[in-house]
Amino acid sequence: MICLLLLTLPLLGNSVPLNQVKKEVKIVGGSDAQEGEWPWQISLRKNWNGFWRHSCGGSLIHPSWILTAAHCIVTSKNEPSDFMIQLRQQNLYENDHLLPLEEIIIHPNYNNHLEGFDMALLKLQSPVQLNKTIQIIRLPEAFQTFTPDMECWVTGWGNIESGVHLPSPYTLKKVQVPVMDALTCDHQYHLDSSVPESQRIILDNMICAGRAGKNPCQGDSGGALACKVQGSWLQAGIVSWGEFCGGFHRPGVYTRVTAFVDWINQHIQ
Ligand SMILES: *[C@@H]1O[C@H](CO)[C@@H](O)[C@H](O)[C@H]1NC(C)=O
Repeated sequence: MICLLLLTLPLLGNSVPLNQVKKEVKIVGGSDAQEGEWPWQISLRKNWNGFWRHSCGGSLIHPSWILTAAHCIVTSKNEPSDFMIQLRQQNLYENDHLLPLEEIIIHPNYNNHLEGFDMALLKLQSPVQLNKTIQIIRLPEAFQTFTPDMECWVTGWGNIESGVHLPSPYTLKKVQVPVMDALTCDHQYHLDSSVPESQRIILDNMICAGRAGKNPCQGDSGGALACKVQGSWLQAGIVSWGEFCGGFHRPGVYTRVTAFVDWINQHIQ
C-alpha cells in the first residue's frame, strides 16, 4: 500500500545517494490467488488510529515464526505490540482473526534495503495450529540455487499499479516471476545510473526476479518469492525493493534467503 512507500522513503533519504534511491517494492500484472494456494502468506498489520491496517506481507516458516522484510518493521519503535498478524486470508480484512507478537528480531546488519540484510523474524505469542489452509513454507538449504527455468511466484495484497490500491474485496494476488541471474540484473540496474559498473548494486545477499509489468508493488514487501523445486515450494526470497511496480524493465529485488538460512535456523530453533 502507498503508506509503506511514504513511511520508508524519508528514512532512506539521508543515508543513500539520490541516484540510488529506488522505490520500495511493492503485485502488478497478476491474477487472483486460488483458495488453498500460498498457505504460508500472512498480512502484517499495523495500528492506524485504532484500525489494524495491512502494511506488508510475510511468510509462515515455523508454527511460531514469520519471515518478513526489515524495512516493514523499522519505521516504528519495533514494539511487538505495534503489530498484529493475520494468517492466510482470501480477501483481506474478511473475518479477521489477528494474532499478537511476542518478539521481533531484525537482522543486526540491516541499515537500509540497498545494503541488503532486509529481513526480520517475528515470533507469535502462541504457535499456530497448521491445517489445510494454514501451512509453513520450507526454507531452502544454503547450497540451493534458483535459476530462470524454475517456476517462481510472488503473492500479496499490495497495489496493482503504482499508487493504485487493490480494489475491494482485496483478493490475494499472485504473479509468476522468472528469476534473473545476478550479473544481468546488476547490469540492468547500472543503466541510467551514475553508480560505476565496478560498484555492485545487486549484492550477494539479494536475488532478482520479475520482468516489466510483472512485479510486486507497495504493500507486497516482506512477502515470499516461492519457487517449486522437485515438486515442493521453497522460499527463495523476501520482497525487498525495485522500481515503480513493474513499469520499468528491471526485475524486482529480493532478499536472498539462502544467504541467511543459518541465521534464521539459529533463532527459530
Ligand atoms: C485452519 O486454521 C485457521 C486458523 O487457525 C482457521 O481459521 C481455519 O478455519 C482452519 N481451516 C481449516 C480448513 O480447518
